[in-house]
Amino acid sequence: MLTEARALLTGERDRIANAANVAALVYHSLPDLNWAGFYFMQGGELVLGPFQGKPACVRIALGKGVCGTAARDRKTIVVPDVDAFPGHIACDSASRSEVVVPIVTGGKVIGVLDVDAPILNRFSGDDARMLEELVQVFVDSTDL
Ligand code: SME
Repeated sequence: MLTEARALLTGERDRIANAANVAALVYHSLPDLNWAGFYFMQGGELVLGPFQGKPACVRIALGKGVCGTAARDRKTIVVPDVDAFPGHIACDSASRSEVVVPIVTGGKVIGVLDVDAPILNRFSGDDARMLEELVQVFVDSTDL
C-alpha cells in the first residue's frame, strides 16, 4: 500500500486531492474497515476532511474522542475496543475498534488520519506503524 500511495501522490501537491486518494486507498486496500479518512485542524478544532465510509461528525474539539486525543497528545492511538475508550465519539455505530495517527509537520499538528473497523481488535502495532509511514508519505506529498 505504501508503494501504491507514493505512486498515487507523486506529481500532485493538492492537499484535498491527495487526502481523498489516501482515504480511498486505505479503505479499499485494508480488509474489515467501515471508515477511513482525515480531519484537519481549523480554528483550534478538528474539521472533517476527505473520507470513505458513512457520513461522519464534522467537528471534534481538541482532546475529545480518539481523534481529539491523538491530535492533542501528538501520538498514534490504537483502540482495540471503542466501548472501553472513555469519551469515544460514535459517528458510525458499526465501529468496534480504531486507530488514529496524528499528522505533524513543522512541529505542529495539522490533522489526523482516522481508520475504523467493525470488528474488535482490528489494528496491530504493525498496522499503526504502516499508517504512520503512510501519513508521512502524505505530508511529504503536499504543501500543508
Ligand atoms: N471515533 C472517532 C470519531 C470520528 S469517527 O469515528 C469518523 C473518535 O472518537 O475520535
